[in-house]
Amino acid sequence: MTVEMIKKQLEAVLSPKRYIHSVNVMETAVSLAAKYGEDAGKAAVAGLLHDCARDVKADEAIRLCGVYGIKVDYISRMQPELLHGLLGEKLAGKLYGVNDPQVLRAIAIHTMGCPGMDLLGRIVLVADYIEPARTFPGADAMRKQAFENLDRAVLTALNSTIKYVIGKGGLLHTDTIETRNWILMELKKA
Ligand SMILES: [Fe+2]
Ligand SMILES: [Fe+2]
Repeated sequence: MTVEMIKKQLEAVLSPKRYIHSVNVMETAVSLAAKYGEDAGKAAVAGLLHDCARDVKADEAIRLCGVYGIKVDYISRMQPELLHGLLGEKLAGKLYGVNDPQVLRAIAIHTMGCPGMDLLGRIVLVADYIEPARTFPGADAMRKQAFENLDRAVLTALNSTIKYVIGKGGLLHTDTIETRNWILMELKKA
C-alpha cells in the first residue's frame, strides 16, 4: 500500500484530530530520519500508522488482543490505551499490508519504548512527542533537542511520560521504566 492509500484508509477510521496528529508524526519522523540517516520510507509508514489502533475502544482492544494472541498484562488491563502500540502492530500488518519487521516493531513500542530499541523506534517515539501540534510546556526545547541529540530526546520523552503518569495517579508500565534506565546508561557511555 502506498502512503497515499494508507492515509485515505486511516482518515476513515481515526478522529480528525488523531488523523492530523498521525500525518504530523509521519512528517516529523521523516525529518528526523533525514537528520540521523534512517530510511525515509520506513519512517513515513511507521509514523503514519503508529496510532492506527488508538481509537479502538477499550473492550474491543482487549478482545482483539485475545484474537491476535497479544498478552495483556495487569497494567494494560487497568489502562487498555497502553495496548494501542501492540495492537497497532497487528493492524498495520493485517489492514495496511505492512510487512517490514522494523516498521512493525517501531509501531509496537512507540508508547512505552523497549530497552535496546533501534533508530527507527527512537525516531517514532520522539516524533510522537514533538510533532507541530504538541504544545506542552517545553515542547519547543524538546524539538530543538531532538535534532541535536536523539537519545537525550528519548530520555526527555520517557521522563515526561513517567511524570505525567505519576501526576494522574496511574500505574507506571515497567517497559517505560526499563527503557528510561537503559537510555540513561547509553547516554552515560557516550
Ligand atoms: Fe500512541
Ligand atoms: Fe501518537
